[in-house]
Formats: sequence, C-alpha cells, structure tokens
Amino acid sequence: MNGFKDAGHLFRFAGLFVVAFLVFWVVRGFVVPKSFGQYGHYRAAAVSEYAARPVKFAGHQACEACHTDIASTKAGGKHAQVNCEACHGALAKHAEDPTSLTPPKPDTAVLCVRCHAASAAKPKDFPQIDAVSHANGVPCETCHNPHSPAIGAPPAAAKGGAQ
Ligand code: HEC
Ligand code: HEC
Ligand code: HEC
Ligand code: HEC
Repeated sequence: MNGFKDAGHLFRFAGLFVVAFLVFWVVRGFVVPKSFGQYGHYRAAAVSEYAARPVKFAGHQACEACHTDIASTKAGGKHAQVNCEACHGALAKHAEDPTSLTPPKPDTAVLCVRCHAASAAKPKDFPQIDAVSHANGVPCETCHNPHSPAIGAPPAAAKGGAQ
C-alpha cells in the first residue's frame, strides 16, 4: 500500500475546483438581481415593473359605449368579430379623454391587405384577394364600408343571413 504518497496533484486539482467555485459564488452574488428566485426561477420585481406600465388598449366595449352607431353597423357585418383596436390601434388614451387625441383614419391600402392579401398559407375559406388586380389602385373604402365590408348586404340583411 503506497497510501497517498503520489496523490498531491489530485489535491491541488481539487483545491483549484474549490477556488473556482468560490469565485463563481462571489461573482454570482453581485450579478444575480436581488429579487431573483423570490417566487420561482425569474426576477420577481419584473412582475411589478410590468404591472406599472400604462395600459394601451381600451378594449372594444369602451369604444362601443361611445361610438354606438359604428358598433351597431359592425355587429351586423362580416367584421363583427374583428375588434376596433385591431384596425385602429391601441387607443386607451383616446377612450379615456376623446379630446386629448383624435385618432387618425387608418390607411386602408396598408390595413386591409394585412389580413386579406391572398396567401397559400391562409385557410382556403378565409376571404382573400390579390390587391393589385382586385382594387387596381382604388382605395378599398370606396367600395367596402370598413365596419361592414360585404358588398350588397346592408347590416340588417347580413344579420339575418349567412353570418
Ligand atoms: C368617451 C367616449 C369615447 C370613447 C370611449 C371612444 N371614443 Fe372615439 N371619439 C369620441 C369623440 C367625442 C370623437 C370626436 C373627437 C374629435 O373629433 O376630436 C371621437 C373620434 C374618434 C375617431 C376619429 C373620427 C373621425 O371622424 O376622424 C375614431 C377613429 C375613433 N374615435 C375611434 C375610437 C375607438 C377605436 C375607440 C375605442 C378604443 C374609441 N374611439 C373610444 C368619443 C369616444
Ligand atoms: C376592419 C377594420 C376596422 C374595424 C374593425 C373598425 N374600424 Fe373604424 N374605421 C376603419 C377605417 C379603415 C376607417 C376609415 C374609413 C375612411 O377613411 O373613410 C374607420 C373609421 C372610423 C371612424 C371615423 C368615422 C367614420 O365613420 O368613418 C370611427 C369613429 C371609427 N372608425 C370607430 C370604430 C369603432 C368604435 C370600432 C369598433 C366598434 C371600429 N371603428 C372598428 C377600420 C376599422
Ligand atoms: C384584423 C384582420 C382584418 C382586417 C385588418 C380587415 N379584415 Fe376584412 N375580414 C376579417 C375577418 C376575420 C373577416 C370574416 C371572415 C369570415 O367570415 O370568414 C373579414 C371579412 C371581410 C369581407 C367579407 C368577405 C365575404 O365573406 O364576403 C370583406 C369584403 C372584407 N373583410 C374587407 C376588408 C376591408 C376592405 C378591410 C380594410 C378596411 C378589411 N377587410 C380589414 C379580418 C380583417
Ligand atoms: C371597385 C370596387 C372595389 C374596390 C376598390 C375593392 N373591392 Fe373588394 N370587392 C368588391 C366586390 C364587388 C366584391 C365582391 C362582392 C363581395 O364579396 O362583397 C369584393 C370582394 C372582396 C373580398 C371578398 C373576397 C372573397 O373571396 O369573398 C375581399 C376580402 C375584398 N373585396 C377586399 C378588398 C380590399 C382589401 C380592397 C382594397 C385593397 C378592396 N377589396 C377594394 C369591390 C371592390
């Protein structure tokens, strides 16, 4: 039995590991945010930071309460399920105080094709058009009412008809 006569290098190696671990532990103490791990594997303070951010969307109920005429037009048309702010953008500020901000009218040349541009990736039964051949440069709202876009189907008729 030689015992540990030639084992010195093993102890030095183990010592190196211990030192490396201590260095890691000290550095970690400095760089890990204070609230990390309070509730789970994330920074707990992030929750209150996000909660403190201002709300940007008003929600369609808010819009409908004031713009009742548009709400009823839309409710009977093909865009019944498309919410106001999907087209008009986030408008919490306007909903809170209408005079503080008059929302711009959306540019239909940009807006409508965002959803309706023909693409093989879309479900076949979703209405799609090739804007160039379909509209030929004429603005979409010349022919379609954005709030009830089907042509030849006034809101009341559309309500009773096929969706
Ligand atoms: C508290 C009532 C109120 C709420 C809530 C409200 N609006 Fe308005 N909205 C108004 C008034 C009043 C005007 C006219 C303001 C003006 O002309 O400066 C207006 C103007 C607008 C306009 C511009 C109309 C134009 O002729 O150019 C748009 C678009 C609009 N609102 C969309 C929305 C949407 C979308 C929402 C929901 C996020 C909403 N509004 C919520 C009262 C409201
Ligand atoms: C599919 C997209 C879309 C949706 C959904 C939509 N809008 Fe609009 N809205 C438009 C466009 C586009 C215009 C501008 C039309 C124009 O330039 O003549 C407009 C115009 C308006 C105007 C200006 C007045 C008018 O009649 O032109 C108001 C107010 C308005 N929208 C409110 C609303 C409210 C409230 C909702 C939800 C109940 C809503 N919109 C949902 C696209 C949309
Ligand atoms: C956020 C996505 C979105 C935007 C933006 C949008 N639409 Fe739509 N559109 C829809 C959905 C969803 C339907 C309902 C599809 C269905 O019933 O299967 C629809 C239905 C329609 C239809 C009825 C097609 C039919 O079945 O007869 C027309 C026309 C139409 N949109 C035109 C427009 C025009 C014009 C604009 C721009 C003012 C516009 N859309 C903007 C989502 C959108
Ligand atoms: C010159 C008039 C005119 C213009 C401009 C126009 N459309 Fe149409 N559009 C029609 C007619 C007519 C139909 C067929 C009737 C219907 O489905 O309501 C139609 C149908 C549609 C449909 C339904 C297609 C389907 O497969 O059911 C969509 C979506 C549509 N248009 C979107 C648009 C968009 C987006 C624009 C702007 C880029 C636009 N349209 C501009 C007249 C027009």
